[in-house]
Amino acid sequence: MTPTLLIVDDEKPTREGLRAALEDKFDVYTAEDSASALRLLERESFDVLLTDLKMPGDDGLGLITRAKSLAKPPVCILMTAYGSEDVAVEAMKQGADDYISKGKLQIDELELRIQRALKRQKLEVENVQLHQRLDDRFGSGGIVGESPAIREILDVVRQVAPSRSTVLITGESGTGKEVVAKTIHQLSPRSRGPWVAVHCAGLPASLLESELFGHEKGAFTGAHERRLGRVESAQGGTLFLDEIGEIDATTQVKLLRFLGERTFERLGSSRTQTSDVRLVAATNKDLQALVKAGTFREDLYFRLAVVPIHLPPLRDRVADIPVLAHAFLREFAKENSKPLKAFETAALDAMLKYRWPGNVRELRTAVEHAVVLCRGDAIGLKDLPVAVRTPAAETVGKETRELIQTGRLTLKEAERQLLLHALQECAGNRTEAARKLAISRRTLHRKLHEFHLEGF
Ligand SMILES: Nc1ncnc2c1ncn2[C@@H]1O[C@H](COP(=O)(O)OP(=O)(O)OP(=O)(O)O)[C@@H](O)[C@H]1O
Ligand SMILES: [Mg+2]
Repeated sequence: MTPTLLIVDDEKPTREGLRAALEDKFDVYTAEDSASALRLLERESFDVLLTDLKMPGDDGLGLITRAKSLAKPPVCILMTAYGSEDVAVEAMKQGADDYISKGKLQIDELELRIQRALKRQKLEVENVQLHQRLDDRFGSGGIVGESPAIREILDVVRQVAPSRSTVLITGESGTGKEVVAKTIHQLSPRSRGPWVAVHCAGLPASLLESELFGHEKGAFTGAHERRLGRVESAQGGTLFLDEIGEIDATTQVKLLRFLGERTFERLGSSRTQTSDVRLVAATNKDLQALVKAGTFREDLYFRLAVVPIHLPPLRDRVADIPVLAHAFLREFAKENSKPLKAFETAALDAMLKYRWPGNVRELRTAVEHAVVLCRGDAIGLKDLPVAVRTPAAETVGKETRELIQTGRLTLKEAERQLLLHALQECAGNRTEAARKLAISRRTLHRKLHEFHLEGF
């Protein structure tokens, strides 16, 4: 849409001259003094106000002050007589977005300044809106995002938080599984109780069992003291078992029993104990595949997956990228005491296009990197890590990528499709097709045989 521009000047030749120069870029309106300008401004919102300083009645400064107090204030640019730099500074303090000296008024420069001010304002408005949306997520713990997927996850989180149901969170590394787990704890009646996280992959099997259920003195070599397990120390709170796919067979059995009866024994003890714990488990593995492979108990899987939550990879919920990026920008700008508030369009575009193999964790690190490096007043493309700002070689199309991700495109299948394409291109002519594929006719025949395409 063409931006609307209101030109205010008491001299008709100036007004009309500016109108003629700017009307192919803007929807131009004019006024001869502050009072009539204000009437226009109050009636409809303008994108830009370009006003002279000296006018009969209220001057340009007064007009800008009034204009900036409107519900939807325009970008305000003050035109000053040559040499009145002091006034110009004052104007900026009063809220003018820019000033330009009439004496050396060049239309190109004026237009450039207007466009720049407009762009800046647009960024600011977007940032304010984003911050409001961020504040709206009060009650969603630390989970940022507005994609349909995240909204749905938030609904589930709010619904299950009050209960003691076991939750199983799945998703690639860095998608926010721990954030979701913690939010469940925070929104639950157990939030005042302990939050205990155990990273199951970090411990050898023998230690994991005692880490979880504790041991008596002398239960095994090296057990010099009695030790409480995490299941006990999480009493009244939430136990988060990260990388649950890694737990060994013995611990699986113990955990299964604990989930069923809420009872357990410390290693080396026959005394049965109980603990009131809410269990949240997470994994980046495909647990169902582990069940099929026989390394994860199916009964335990069902006990854990009472409420399953799957976090899609970030590249499949692109709508979350801007909000997450802004949330991290706020965080790191504050941490580094930098007045950064926005991303330049090019930077945001690059972030939207990038595939984020490390998901939200990678995005967070990228923004931190950019904040530290940035010298301007908005994050630019050059501030982003190289990987993010370098467009991926588009050798593989989107569809192919999707096929590969879903396991529907194997190398064999790709080869078969390529053969088919080549044959179609050459209307079945073997010699032509072999030449296109840069293989010998013999190889082509062998491949056609292998893929049962001889009849093609
Ligand atoms: N929706 C989100 N809102 C805000 N921050 C998020 C969100 N998702 C992830 N993060 C941040 O991204 C980083 C990675 O998240 P988290 O540790 O929860 O991932 P994960 O899925 O547990 O990864 P891993 O499988 O590697 O353990 C953290 O710094 C976390 O704060
Ligand atoms: Mg994690």
